[in-house]
Amino acid sequence: MPSGLFSWRAKSFVGLDIGTSRIKMVELAARPDGVELVRAAMESIPAGAIVEGKILDPVSMADAIRRAMAAGKFRSREVVAAVAGQGVVVRHARFPRMPEEELKDAMKWEAQKYIPYPVEEAMLDFTVLPASSSDQQGMEVMLVAAPAELVNSHLEAMELAGLTVVAVDVQPFTMLRALRQLSPSGTADAEDGSVAYVDVGAGTTDIVIANGEVVRFTRIVPIGGATFTKAIADRLGVGFDVAERLKIERGQVHRRGEDVHGSEERALAEAIGEVAEAAVLDIRRSIDYHDLQLSGGAEGVEVKRVILSGGGAVLRGFAEYIGEELGLPTEMFEPLSNITVNPRVASKLEDVGAVGPMLVVGIGLALREVVD
Ligand SMILES: Nc1ncnc2c1ncn2[C@@H]1O[C@H](COP(=O)(O)OP(=O)(O)OP(=O)(O)O)[C@@H](O)[C@H]1O
Ligand SMILES: [Mg+2]
Repeated sequence: MPSGLFSWRAKSFVGLDIGTSRIKMVELAARPDGVELVRAAMESIPAGAIVEGKILDPVSMADAIRRAMAAGKFRSREVVAAVAGQGVVVRHARFPRMPEEELKDAMKWEAQKYIPYPVEEAMLDFTVLPASSSDQQGMEVMLVAAPAELVNSHLEAMELAGLTVVAVDVQPFTMLRALRQLSPSGTADAEDGSVAYVDVGAGTTDIVIANGEVVRFTRIVPIGGATFTKAIADRLGVGFDVAERLKIERGQVHRRGEDVHGSEERALAEAIGEVAEAAVLDIRRSIDYHDLQLSGGAEGVEVKRVILSGGGAVLRGFAEYIGEELGLPTEMFEPLSNITVNPRVASKLEDVGAVGPMLVVGIGLALREVVD
């Protein structure tokens, strides 16, 4: 029970993560001794309602959002949301020192180099990064761009659902915020090398490489949990829903060369193995590109560890496989190990332990307001 008259008025914030397969909605409250998860809901999204990050069917998306709100008994109408997709770009650019106003103009020209669509169609934002002591000449700027159409499609769906959008963030930042706030060892200091943060969703795997506070590299790979399911469906000649159940109940990524008995088990393992191998290849390419090209061979900034999140990463054996193949310490991000889960929420979530990695983006969004 609340101890004081106003304790229910403590500040709380809602993060809304609209993925390709499911909505994840969380509400976090600031408590004197940390952060509490007070509400949470996951709701599946009708197929085709969101494609490559853009909401094509705002009406059915709004319905799905309303179902999530009802399921989690959300009362607050204010949310922080995220956009993701190929058009969402986070890049570093170097500029000579100049005042902020001039930089704004220069940015419009510069941005076009980095974004694969006309700059007039983009929403742009930028942050000047803290200068390193060795570099007084120029400045390093982090540029964020998203197609206006994509952002507007999200705003429309949320408005239709009766929500007020307090802020729109881009997914790479939400993951890092969650990591920084909840797992201080996760974002090691810049001197300790870089961290590859890998969110395996249903449709895509989003790779973010950060060095301390600075995002150095982002890449979106079109492989995710649904790719595993499709491979199983094709290999076993079953429908998507049956394949999805098979994957969750019996699927496992086996180690290289490990024996699997039974012909159906072997077919399942092979289908999963092929997708896992392709996913790891893309993660490895991103890490190599960062280590060799971006860091310019600078000592100590290579990727030293891998942190996983997202529903696709929960697949049995996948984290171990990724770690072994990459030869890097790899762990699952468990945000709920540093958040108090309200017992009312805990009783509703089937398996609080397994759900944490899937709520990372939503949690990172809500944290934006709770801790900033
Ligand atoms: N226990 C499990 N074992 C294996 N896979 C699982 C499990 N639970 C969920 N998944 C898979 O996780 C995926 C959904 O994860 P998530 O909710 O993170 O994706 P999303 O946010 O909707 O997609 P995206 O981030 O690509 O837009 C689905 O492909 C689902 O099959
Ligand atoms: Mg997702």
